[in-house]
Amino acid sequence: MRTRPLKVALLGCGVVGSEVARIMTTHADDLTARIGAPVELAGVAVRRPNRVREGVPEHLVTTDATALVKRGDIDVVVEVIGGIEPARSLITTAFEHGASVVSANKALVSQDGAALHAAAQERGADLYYEAAVAGAIPLVRPLRESLAGDKVNRVLGIVNGTTNFILDRMDGSGAGYSEALDEATALGYAEADPTADVEGFDAAAKAAILAGIAFHTRVTLDDVHREGITEVTAADIASAKRMGCTVKLLAICERAADGRSVTARVHPAMIPLAHPLASVREAYNAVFVEADAAGQLMFYGPGAGGSPTASAVLGDLVAACRNKLAGATGPGESAYSRLPVSPMGDVVTRYHISLDVADKPGVLAQVATVFAEHGVSIDTVRQQGKDGEASLVVVTHRASDAALSATVETLRRLDTVRDVASIMRVEGE
Ligand code: HSE
Repeated sequence: MRTRPLKVALLGCGVVGSEVARIMTTHADDLTARIGAPVELAGVAVRRPNRVREGVPEHLVTTDATALVKRGDIDVVVEVIGGIEPARSLITTAFEHGASVVSANKALVSQDGAALHAAAQERGADLYYEAAVAGAIPLVRPLRESLAGDKVNRVLGIVNGTTNFILDRMDGSGAGYSEALDEATALGYAEADPTADVEGFDAAAKAAILAGIAFHTRVTLDDVHREGITEVTAADIASAKRMGCTVKLLAICERAADGRSVTARVHPAMIPLAHPLASVREAYNAVFVEADAAGQLMFYGPGAGGSPTASAVLGDLVAACRNKLAGATGPGESAYSRLPVSPMGDVVTRYHISLDVADKPGVLAQVATVFAEHGVSIDTVRQQGKDGEASLVVVTHRASDAALSATVETLRRLDTVRDVASIMRVEGE
């Protein structure tokens, strides 16, 4: 066993960083045994040095993150600052000075993953980011390593805990979106500015990372179709219930049937109550992976929070340290497939459409004709009439998003259609 310790620089000491520091101290003997050498926290870069950080020795704390990563004796840099800058510059500088990097930064990896991987490879360093996707749940490593011999066709899951909590509350109590968001904020699940979560940016970044690894192709945040949950109404949830479904914000990455392209999307969708994802409650995450040989795999667990995210960071830290000792590197970027990412219009799925229409002879036939003209086949129709108006719920068979959009556009122009009240995709059947 080597006695000279491997040196670790921690960039950021918030909820996740302080847990990483704590576990490094409390589990030091186990980490030493697992790595084959001691690991030493050599410096902790923070923005506000005066905030008390329990368990972090004061002499290690610095506000000069750049000087820390430039020291030259750092083996692994752990970046838990988040955001694009200064994280990107610090990681690049860390590689230039020979360090490997463990990051929890989904925004950065989903935007600049290819460049970061190239910088790591150039210097013979590692870039690991298990914590960037679904907190403690092992997903990046299983996709990158355990399934490296298989062919992944689909990744489908709930990768944002905040929105799952909100939708779960709406489903459980019949609450509207704003009321459920207020509860999520009061309980600390939603941040003061919830935009990244409720508008689907967080989930889209995770979808980009998962799609890239699963399909061995470059997928960035800009390639991911994104819709958040702010437009989901109590009526949508009630409608889903009537169909034996619930509403979840799903991240869906798929290989096209002909294998020649992929798609990645994040949007609310109805899924049947019998589907395992329907029983994912509160702020938990769960992801289905479908592969040729493995079949269906499901990964489930806490997708956020200090300790769960620190668990993923520590796993990466052990891997990066082991590689350093062996003079080796772990798997880098695998983008050899170079598959194009198709637009949302090419996605094929089922739809649930609610229309407010005039309740008079011929309206149903008129609506059905519009669907037929666009090649969208209707599966079921439910109508409820009241005072000369009717609410019409149409569920379609599988159709392309482009065909469905064209159908809806035409429906909106009909005099007899007062409103297209909601359109929701139906998944998981
Ligand atoms: N805000 C995220 C969530 C966790 O609610 O799942 C960090 O990605």
